[in-house]
Amino acid sequence: MSKPSSIRLRPVELGDLRTIYEYQLDPAANAMAVANPRSEEDFFSHWTKSISNPEIVARVIVADGVVVGHVSVFMMNGRDTVGYWIDRAYWGLGIASAGLGLLLEEVKMRPLYAMAARSNAASARVLEKCGFVLTGYEWAEATERFPACEEAVFRLG
Ligand SMILES: CC(C)(COP(=O)(O)OP(=O)(O)OC[C@H]1O[C@@H](n2cnc3c(N)ncnc32)[C@H](O)[C@@H]1OP(=O)(O)O)[C@@H](O)C(=O)NCCC(=O)NCCS
Repeated sequence: MSKPSSIRLRPVELGDLRTIYEYQLDPAANAMAVANPRSEEDFFSHWTKSISNPEIVARVIVADGVVVGHVSVFMMNGRDTVGYWIDRAYWGLGIASAGLGLLLEEVKMRPLYAMAARSNAASARVLEKCGFVLTGYEWAEATERFPACEEAVFRLG
């Protein structure tokens, strides 16, 4: 697959949720992110609330007209935090870096934080390319959504 010639963001709509649900099931992506996929019921309940919450900025990443991932800003543990996920079929094409870059132009609030499993080198690289700085590591206990792991904490601004 070649690099897309156009990458843009738009708000996540209800009609995108099935696509996003499918790629969050991918075992390789979950292994990378050190995450557990959400069940269909949890996924739709979580995302239906998220897209109607004015305090959450949730965008799909559209590459050459195709929804290939999402990027968002949400409050977690008192920090404005960014998150992103790209369909594995489109990894390695610069899409996460470009999508996060576009979100950072749209959302001016700083500081922003990101948490990534320490083992998630690709995510660390995306953050570094977008100007985030590694501030340290935190141990995160297991939750239903995430197995226990050491997390790298990144900050921008
Ligand atoms: C992490 C993820 C978002 C990256 O998306 P992507 O569109 O492939 O990212 P990009 O192409 O913009 O950039 C990836 C960078 O990481 C690098 N990279 C990829 N795999 C790597 C690895 N195993 N070790 C080190 N760097 C790696 C790439 O070379 C690239 O850097 P470069 O531009 O300097 O060459 C994607 O793999 C994903 O969705 N993973 C599953 C979900 C996830 O981990 N989300 C983040 C949770 S914190």
